[in-house]
Amino acid sequence: MKNVLITGANRGIGLELCRQLSARGDRVIAVVRKSSPELEKLGCRVLSGCDLARPEDLAKLAIDLGTQKLHRVISNAGILSNQVLGKIDGPAIEQILDQFKINALGPVLLAQALRAHMVRGSCLAILTSRMGSIADNTSGGSYGYRMSKAAANAAGVSLARDLEKDGITVLILHPGYVRTDMTGHSGLVEADESARGLIARMDTLGPEASGSFHHANGDVLPW
Ligand SMILES: NC(=O)c1ccc[n+]([C@@H]2O[C@H](COP(=O)([O-])OP(=O)(O)OC[C@H]3O[C@@H](n4cnc5c(N)ncnc54)[C@H](OP(=O)(O)O)[C@@H]3O)[C@@H](O)[C@H]2O)c1
Repeated sequence: MKNVLITGANRGIGLELCRQLSARGDRVIAVVRKSSPELEKLGCRVLSGCDLARPEDLAKLAIDLGTQKLHRVISNAGILSNQVLGKIDGPAIEQILDQFKINALGPVLLAQALRAHMVRGSCLAILTSRMGSIADNTSGGSYGYRMSKAAANAAGVSLARDLEKDGITVLILHPGYVRTDMTGHSGLVEADESARGLIARMDTLGPEASGSFHHANGDVLPW
């Protein structure tokens, strides 16, 4: 039985991770801005009012956890908006910076806030995206999302190096193209299938895989 903290747990992939991990007996701590009826039904511990764009909320989260030790931290929360070349003006620039804040800086601030709670042998899983892969970018566009997820990947490798001395493994994981609010419910897989794959990666990948980039289906992805 593991203590697992998951951000963005009120819906989508985060909610499904909470559902499956709770069902198998892990002690799940769901971190959200605002809970949802679906999350409340799971009966796990819910810590609400945590906006990942606000460092003070992360500091409060660390205090609220008290002496709670964590075996897994899943940095799942993220945002997506599209920007089109030629129209990258004031509002679009704000959207790009917001994506940097949540998608790239968010996992770093979360790791910084929770480092002392994570035991040796624990794992930090960062939900990134294949859209952050420079090698895999054949269609262009999505400036803010692609740049922020590429930056999240870079941050994941730095975290792997920095947290090695604490015995913490850092996994950089793509969940697949998943039918959630983020994709307008288009995609190739449902959230339950994605969550099953992500959990399998976390169960099987150890310190030797720290700082590597994997698809939920097990494929190693190019940077
Ligand atoms: N769906 C896909 O196909 C896909 C593909 C590749 C990668 N991903 C990544 O997988 C992760 C989960 O995606 P999803 O599809 O489940 O997305 P989703 O359904 O849109 O859910 C996003 C989650 O992030 C939370 N969040 C957003 N901004 C936040 C903030 N400032 N502070 C705290 N929480 C915040 C949301 O909470 P609120 O309800 O409070 O907004 C929500 O719980 C994301 O990192 C995403 O980039 C998804």
